[in-house]
Amino acid sequence: MIAQKLCASAGVITGDCAISLAIVRIINGVIMSSGKLLGISGSLRANSVNTKLMKEAARIFDPAEFTQADLRLPLYDGDLEDQGIPAEVMTLSNQIAEADAVVISGPEYNASISGVLKNALDWVSRTRMGPWRDKPVALMSAAAGRTGGARAQWIMRLSLNPFRPRLLVGPELMVASAAAQFDEAGRLTNERYEATLTELMDALRHEARLD
Ligand SMILES: Cc1cc2nc3c(=O)[nH]c(=O)nc-3n(C[C@H](O)[C@H](O)[C@H](O)COP(=O)(O)O)c2cc1C
Repeated sequence: MIAQKLCASAGVITGDCAISLAIVRIINGVIMSSGKLLGISGSLRANSVNTKLMKEAARIFDPAEFTQADLRLPLYDGDLEDQGIPAEVMTLSNQIAEADAVVISGPEYNASISGVLKNALDWVSRTRMGPWRDKPVALMSAAAGRTGGARAQWIMRLSLNPFRPRLLVGPELMVASAAAQFDEAGRLTNERYEATLTELMDALRHEARLD
């Protein structure tokens, strides 16, 4: 009976409720659909604070099947596009399309977003798949400055608007003096940032109808 309820809540119509264990989990007595979360960091460097923040978002969003996007794409070039959309761009576009929700954390470079992130957005727009359309998306930023990349986050929002995702309006998470905000294990050390991130991930789960 419980298994049937689990299946029903997950929208599974098969009688094989072992499947439901992969789709829903019970946390503190609450049934939660796991879903697919895609994480995008606008920084490529290994010790990136934005990659750390994105991973913290995934930890808090859990349960979910988490995928980290790879933005090591060629620079957008129309001549390259004429030879066919690169396979790694198609992979990214498919990952966005298949995700129930996306979280993006980007650095601030000279009061704007990173070229790496803009390049990825431009390439994906050329796949003609429209993977962002109606996608629940949470934006975050982490930066060395005191505003935590506020300017970059606004530009991120403007850069995504043409693709018509469901961008969460808040809470806004901008991690300032970011290098000092994570411990050795990559966990946020500031309780206020963690609380805001938890609120943001709850809102993202809700927007993705995973709560
Ligand atoms: C080219 C460049 C421009 C930057 N411009 C800004 C800026 O406008 N505001 C800011 O707060 N930090 C700025 N920084 C510092 C970044 O916030 C810092 O390097 C941060 O750690 C980058 O994010 P990451 O750790 O995820 O790579 C800049 C860094 C670089 C490399």
